[in-house]
Amino acid sequence: MSVDAVQGGGRLEGKVAIVTGAGRGIGRASATLFAAHGARVVVADLDAGRAAEVAREIGSERALAAAVDVADQGSVTAMVDAAAERFGAIHLLYNNAGVNSDGAVDRATLEDWERCFAVNVTGTFLCSRAVIAHLEAGGGGAILNQGSVAALVGIRNFAAYCAAKGAVVALTRSMAVDLAPRGIRVNCLCPGTVYTPLMEPMLRERGEGDMQRGLDLTIEKYPIGRLGEPEDIAAAALFLLSDEAAFVTGSVHPVDGGMTAQ
Ligand SMILES: NC(=O)c1ccc[n+]([C@@H]2O[C@H](COP(=O)([O-])OP(=O)(O)OC[C@H]3O[C@@H](n4cnc5c(N)ncnc54)[C@H](O)[C@@H]3O)[C@@H](O)[C@H]2O)c1
Repeated sequence: MSVDAVQGGGRLEGKVAIVTGAGRGIGRASATLFAAHGARVVVADLDAGRAAEVAREIGSERALAAAVDVADQGSVTAMVDAAAERFGAIHLLYNNAGVNSDGAVDRATLEDWERCFAVNVTGTFLCSRAVIAHLEAGGGGAILNQGSVAALVGIRNFAAYCAAKGAVVALTRSMAVDLAPRGIRVNCLCPGTVYTPLMEPMLRERGEGDMQRGLDLTIEKYPIGRLGEPEDIAAAALFLLSDEAAFVTGSVHPVDGGMTAQ
């Protein structure tokens, strides 16, 4: 999807936004939408090739590709330094990078548990910590953390992921309380199932090897009658990071087609 194909409107005009995990899926849709709304965007991803491709699509004058492992402190510092050097300021951070886990609590491995917490929780902590001085220097800013419906209801065979996303919700509230007096808003999105590469193994497993059956069984859980699109989540992220949400902080938003309303 090119920036030109996305309807723009200047809601992030003059802002510099870092989007982690922006090489594909929700992060890619969000970085593209933010740029279409006037932001200069740091397309940060573990996969340098995917980050470069998305930055190229957005356009080199508005986008910087950055290879980063959000779970690694040195890597995060280098990414944030590069962003500040290139654009001279940082106003917004979308902590979107995340990984799934596999298994009910008695089947989950310690390695899977630790990786899930390292990327989803420690990554959110490290990236947030690294940008706060930049946000304050610019007179304030906003951080958006990526939770999941898995933080709000139990999802079968997803023990580590549910726990990690629950931690992201709790961290959001803690950060919001600490940072509000310093002019920084912090919110959390909890998407329902969005059809992205991340979800394919889960959908296939749910369908006992049959992807279509996995999809059908999943859609049954969604009153709205479909799964989410990356653009559905990007639209909510745009609002929460824009000045239109100036009075919104510490909030947790399911964007889930009614899945958690039942
Ligand atoms: N897809 C869904 O149904 C869904 C639902 C709820 C929440 N989420 C959350 O939304 C976020 C994005 O999900 P998605 O479906 O777009 O995933 P995706 O797998 O399509 O994209 C995630 C991107 O993050 C990058 N990434 C992974 N580990 C990283 C790391 N350590 N450092 C930097 N980048 C890293 C990957 O390279 C990938 O490009 C995740 O936090 C996920 O948990 C997704």
